[in-house]
Amino acid sequence: MNKRALIIGATSSLAARICHRLAEKNYKLFLVARDAEELEIIKNDLRVRYNAEVITQKLDLSYITFSAAEFVQNIEEKFRFPDSVFMVAGDMGAADAREENIERVTKINYLQPAKILEIIAEKMGNRERGRIIVISSVAGDRGRASNYIYGSAKAALSTFASGLRNKFSHDNVHIMTVKPGFLDTPMTYGMHSPLIWSRDKAAKTIIKAMRRKREVIYVPFFWRYIMLIIKLIPEKIFKRLNL
Ligand SMILES: NC(=O)c1ccc[n+]([C@@H]2O[C@H](COP(=O)([O-])OP(=O)(O)OC[C@H]3O[C@@H](n4cnc5c(N)ncnc54)[C@H](OP(=O)(O)O)[C@@H]3O)[C@@H](O)[C@H]2O)c1
Repeated sequence: MNKRALIIGATSSLAARICHRLAEKNYKLFLVARDAEELEIIKNDLRVRYNAEVITQKLDLSYITFSAAEFVQNIEEKFRFPDSVFMVAGDMGAADAREENIERVTKINYLQPAKILEIIAEKMGNRERGRIIVISSVAGDRGRASNYIYGSAKAALSTFASGLRNKFSHDNVHIMTVKPGFLDTPMTYGMHSPLIWSRDKAAKTIIKAMRRKREVIYVPFFWRYIMLIIKLIPEKIFKRLNL
C-alpha cells in the first residue's frame, strides 16, 4: 500500500524538493500552502514526473478563523490519515518588533503549527504509528537583534517538538526536529556564503535522517558546531556583536 504524506508549506522551495523525493518513493501526497496556483504547478509536475497521486489545499495560517481541528478533519475526509507529516511552513517576517509583526510571525511559525501537530500526534499515538518532521531553524538557538521575533517563534517550535517527542515516544510516533542553517532558498536570496547548502542536498539529508529515526538534525550538519560555538559566547560579549 502507498504511504501518505502531508506537507504543510508545500510551496516552500525546500518542501518542493522533499515532495520529489517522496513521490519517487510512491508516496501519496497532500500538499498545503497559501499559494493555490503554485500548488497546482507543483502537483502537475509531480504527476507528470512520477505519476504521483497528489491532492492540494489552500491554507493561510495567519487567518483569524483558522481552526486546527477543522483542518485535520478535512484532511482525513479528503485523504485519509497521513503516515508522515512535514511541517515546513515558515515566515521570517519583517525584522521590526511591532505588535502586529510579533503576532503574525508567532502565529505562522509556532502557534498554528503547534495546534495542528498536537492533534496529529494524538491521532498517530492512538494508531501507534506515524512520523512528524518539524522544520525549525538555527535562529531559534540564540536570539539575535536582526531576527529575534522569528527566532523566538522557532525556539518555541523546537521546544514544542522536543516535548511532543517525549510525550509520544512510547506510542511508536517518531518526531524529528530539523534545524536548517542557510539553504539556497528565496529566504536567503542574495546571500553568498560557502555555508549555504542546496535545497536538493538538504531534502535528501532530511529524508535519510527521517528513515534512520534521527531526533534533531542540523542541515547542513556543520551548523550544529557553529551554533554550539555561538551558544557558548558569554552574554556580555554576545550583546556587543553585530550578528
Ligand atoms: N531558507 C533557509 O535558509 C532557512 C533557514 C532556517 C530555517 N528555514 C525554515 O525552513 C522552512 C522552509 O524555508 P524556505 O526558505 O523554503 O521558505 P519559503 O520558500 O519562503 O517557503 C515558506 C513556506 O511557508 C508557507 N507559508 C508562509 N506563510 C504562510 C501562511 N501564513 N500560511 C500558510 N503557509 C504559509 C509558504 O506558502 P506560500 O508560498 O503559499 O505563501 C511556503 O510554502 C521554513 O520553516 C523556514 O523557516 C529556512
